Parts: sequence; structure tokens; C-alpha cells
Amino acid sequence: MISSPLMTVMVDAARKAARSLRRDFGEVENLQVSRKGPGDFVSAADRKAEEVLRDALLKARPGYSMILEEGGVIEGTDKSHTWHIDPLDGTSNFLHGVPHFAVSIGLEREGVIVAGVVFDPIKDELFIAERGKGAYLNNRRIRVAARSEMADALVGYGTPYLGRGSHPRLLREISAVMAVSGGTRRMGSAALDLAYVACGRLDAYWERDLQTYDFAGGVALVREAGGFVTSADGAAEPLAPRSIACGNESLHRDLLAILKKAQAA
Ligand code: IPD
Ligand code: CA
Ligand code: CA
Ligand code: CA
Repeated sequence: MISSPLMTVMVDAARKAARSLRRDFGEVENLQVSRKGPGDFVSAADRKAEEVLRDALLKARPGYSMILEEGGVIEGTDKSHTWHIDPLDGTSNFLHGVPHFAVSIGLEREGVIVAGVVFDPIKDELFIAERGKGAYLNNRRIRVAARSEMADALVGYGTPYLGRGSHPRLLREISAVMAVSGGTRRMGSAALDLAYVACGRLDAYWERDLQTYDFAGGVALVREAGGFVTSADGAAEPLAPRSIACGNESLHRDLLAILKKAQAA
């Protein structure tokens, strides 16, 4: 486990928000679901869980800035720290009764992601990582999978909401990965896709057109689990490009090469 004041703050906040999500899961008829844009839904469950996270993190670290999916940006007095907060990653799953979603918190210090917590309240799986201190699932140290052949790999990916993203490029990428990998998965939560790469359930994962709160927590997990993470175009820090490609060293390299070739096609 990681025992640091920072991790205690993050885990306590995530557990509180998760409790709120667990209560709301299955109560969709009471959740005032609305559409933020085509295919992009939000509910009272997202808003309630976000309030819990915002209040807990503001109380513990009053100066830090925040980027919240539903509440936008809160500028703090401490310019070097920013929380990237997704209270419910996997809203579509949640609203359809699919038990695969998570709370995600990432901490950025001076442009670098230094800590992450991703909590799946239904499976009661807590993924945590802090820079230099390793990554854990519940109390167990986790590592990315060792598989080095794409032909053996299970590769996760994400698809954008209705009307967003470049569909022709994405379809080329998916078809290129399908042609050479052991299998593909679109599971519906970017934060859990990253967490699953960190613990070796998925071997690699890529997605474009994300927001930083979708992946900041998960990026910390993959890196501390010995994995490689860049943007889908290979930029070292994904925060600005807001896309992700990850896996162990060898599969990450192969995945980037496949994506590059598919882009050029
Ligand atoms: C979404 C999920 C999904 C990804 C989308 C995200 P939300 O987040 O992470 O897997 O494909 O791009 O927007 O809206 O459920 O928090
Ligand atoms: Ca999200
Ligand atoms: Ca969300
Ligand atoms: Ca959303």
C-alpha cells in the first residue's frame, strides 16, 4: 500500500464519491438524466459525486486548482497543482445498468501527472498510484502484462460520442489493430481501461478525443505499474494532446507504429 497524506486524501475522497454512485446505480428513473450534447449524457449521479469530490479535495488542499468534468475549472492560488476530476467515468454504462464505471482523480504537478486514484465501486476495486511509490489494486502491487506479441494481446480502445472525432481515421485504426492483435475491447470507461492496462487485464489501450479528467488518474497507474504512456501520436505527455496510447514497452511501441501507419493510409 501507499501510506502518504496525499494518498489518504485522494482515497478518502474517491470512497465517499463512490458511495454516492453506488446508492444511485439502478435508480436511473430518479436521476434527472439530460443531454449535454449528442450522445453525451449527465445525471444527478454525476453531479452529486462531483460535489463530494470537490468539497473533500478543496477542504484537504484549499489552494489547488481543479478541472472538473461537470463543474469546469476552479483556479486555485497554488499554480503548480491541479486536480483532474471525473466523478463518474463510464456514464453511458452507468445509465444503462452496466456495472463498469469508476471515480477518477489525477493530480498534476508542474505539468506532470504525479498521482492517481481510480475506484470501481461495484467491483470494489481501488487502483492507486503515486510517483515513485508503485501502483496497487486494493492491497496488491500491480504490473503491466509481460506479453510482447501483438498477436497474443488484448487491446482496449474508445470511440467518441455521436458526431465527435474522426470516424474514418478511427475505423482504420480499429481495423488495423484487429488485423494483428489477439482481440479488442471497447469497455466504456477510459479510466478503467487504463487501470486494466496497469494490472495486466488489458495489454494495451488507445483512445483519441479525450479530456484530461478521463485519463489523468489512469496515466499515473500505468506508469507506476511499469507501463509506457504517450499521446496516440507519441507525444511524451498526453495532457495537451488529450489522447492516449499505452502498454508495456514493446506493445506500446508496436501500437504507436500501427496507429501511425493507419493514419497515413
Ligand atoms: C467517457 C468514457 C468513455 C470514453 C469517452 C469518455 P464519461 O467518459 O471514458 O470510455 O470513450 O470518450 O468521455 O463521459 O463517461 O465520463
Ligand atoms: Ca470521463
Ligand atoms: Ca464523467
Ligand atoms: Ca461525461
